Amino acid sequence: MKPILASLFVAFAALTICDAQTSVTVVMGTGDQPKAVPANTGPSVDVGLASTPPMGWNSWNHFACNVDETVIRTAADQLVSSGMRDAGYVYLVIDDCWHGERDSHGDIQADAKRFPSGIRALAEYVHSKGLKFGIYSDAGTRTCGGRPGSRGYEFQDAAQYAHWGVDYLKYDWCNTSTQDAQASYSIMREALNHTGRPVVFSMCEWGTAKPWLWAAGVGNLWRTTGDIDDKWEGKFDYKLGLMNIVDQNEPLYSYAGPGHWNDPDMLEVGNGGMTPDEYRAHFSLWAMMAAPLMAGNDLARMDSETKAILMNREVIAVDQDTTGKQGQRVWKQGDLEVWSRELSDGSRAVLLLNRGLRPSAITVEWPQIGYTSALEAKIRDLWAHQITGRFRGKYTANVSPHGVAMITVTP
Ligand code: GLA
Repeated sequence: MKPILASLFVAFAALTICDAQTSVTVVMGTGDQPKAVPANTGPSVDVGLASTPPMGWNSWNHFACNVDETVIRTAADQLVSSGMRDAGYVYLVIDDCWHGERDSHGDIQADAKRFPSGIRALAEYVHSKGLKFGIYSDAGTRTCGGRPGSRGYEFQDAAQYAHWGVDYLKYDWCNTSTQDAQASYSIMREALNHTGRPVVFSMCEWGTAKPWLWAAGVGNLWRTTGDIDDKWEGKFDYKLGLMNIVDQNEPLYSYAGPGHWNDPDMLEVGNGGMTPDEYRAHFSLWAMMAAPLMAGNDLARMDSETKAILMNREVIAVDQDTTGKQGQRVWKQGDLEVWSRELSDGSRAVLLLNRGLRPSAITVEWPQIGYTSALEAKIRDLWAHQITGRFRGKYTANVSPHGVAMITVTP
């Protein structure tokens, strides 16, 4: 489609989407002619695509703008050789800065110096490793890294991604001026639908327009916060420490579910800014919050501690639990917290979190997690990988500073 037609279409689609109750939703027919269909059939995600929170690896947290095809091919190799793929990390996503400019038809091209073999060949390579391939764009005129954005080119870009074999699109929100978030993301949703290719749609709008209120039919996951920093706590320019992110994402638990997840940003595990205890807390909290698990470390330099965290299958199983219910904080006193997540077999995942600087005993009492005090339940420690025993009414663990104990409580 020509850019001018695409822009007209965008304006038209935005109008109809904003007034979806009384109007029509526009989809593209064959031959790229807009055609009208009845109202309320509107943007819709393929729920089956992300029935559990997506797992994978994204280039941004470690490589930032320094991506090229060697980085991505090597990451694909390492996802396999490290065992990460088999632990569930299947989406390999190139974040910002892969782009070159548009060609004379307006089709987006990769940076030819960094990706001399082209994106399609790269996607084929990634697929040959039993992985899925993801890419990044932006709803505005430019990406956050200053590369071409998709505004006005949504259908053209989606078609290009489908042609390349893209399975996952992270869609950012820089340089969007006065654009409406719901309309902008819905346009890309329609564009992805139009390709006929199943693509996980990862909305990266930082929670500004409260996507949890409207995006369940638009994206498979939506960022709820600013960017994560590899630090325990604090605000650093537009970046947030772990605890700040957790406190913003936790209250949104009721909005998450199969196909539509709160995204508190990608993992920093293994990037060096936090202690192993802090990274265990990070990973456990993401699992409790049913968060997407997108690793962001240098896979070539994973020490055994990082591997043990990222590939803790018991914690991953909590994250991937099929009911898709996001856990929540059920008790807090000062720096000590108890979190609970309901699992599909009726048991609970429970997290005892110590945000303080002193080792502390933390107790979970069964009524806090929806069980009676009289109940005797089996406790399994998901970091020690062992059954701790059977306990009636409550369970106490000593928790290290900035650390967690994570257990399942099974009646
Ligand atoms: C924004 C996003 C990040 C990353 C960068 C890339 O800051 O929130 O996750 O994609 O842009 O420039």
